[in-house]
Amino acid sequence: MKKSLFITFEGIEGSGKSTQIALLAEYIKARGYEVTVTCEPGGTTVGEAIRRILLNPEFAEMDYHTEVLLYAADRAQHVAELIMPALNKGNIVISDRYIDSSIAYQHFGRGMPLDLIMDVNDRATQGLKPNITFLLVVPTELGLSRATQVKADRIEQESIEFHTRVEAGFQELAAKEPGRWLVVDGTRSVDEIHQVVVEALEPFL
Ligand code: ADP
Ligand code: TYD
Repeated sequence: MKKSLFITFEGIEGSGKSTQIALLAEYIKARGYEVTVTCEPGGTTVGEAIRRILLNPEFAEMDYHTEVLLYAADRAQHVAELIMPALNKGNIVISDRYIDSSIAYQHFGRGMPLDLIMDVNDRATQGLKPNITFLLVVPTELGLSRATQVKADRIEQESIEFHTRVEAGFQELAAKEPGRWLVVDGTRSVDEIHQVVVEALEPFL
């Protein structure tokens, strides 16, 4: 079945986005729809190369303008090469992060001007907005402890205060646009969260 629908998942690292996306993709497939699962930064070959620059902990000197523009460059490629073509084919697209991550991390986290981020991202995305965005809310310490890998990447290395500003930023965005966002308690079990996500999505299917 064909259904052009753009779903995004947002939240701090370790909030459970990839876990829920995998379950949701299976659910959508079982309902008979074609689904494209992707993520930012990355999702395309060019995006993977940009991702390696963005997350490299050796690039501590990266200017915040550079950071904003690289995330937007990754997104431009992602929208043009993957997301728009998939939606045009009638696929449901699920992306692990999108423009709201730039607002939460680069505006609320880094303090970069919102109008700069909106301007470059409006151009990068050709105005494409998600139909529905799930925000998985977990306390910062819990998310970061779940996300802890062998070596933290350039963004994960930031302070607890930085990640707490990002989390508060996500919640502010969700409160401003309740028609698009669904805020989910990410401390519940994987299955409970999946049920909430599926119920919220049902009217769109
Ligand atoms: P993200 O993609 O947001 O970084 P992940 O889905 O990779 O998060 O989850 C990070 C870690 O937390 C993984 O080890 C995952 O198994 C675990 N996890 C995910 N969701 C839950 C949950 N609801 N309860 C407990 N652990 C979870
Ligand atoms: P990733 O390993 O994909 O984290 P996660 O599994 O939590 O999604 O790393 C992506 C990192 O990039 C993450 O720390 C959030 C950050 N980020 C931004 O700062 N701005 C953005 O626009 C995007 C898409 C991600």
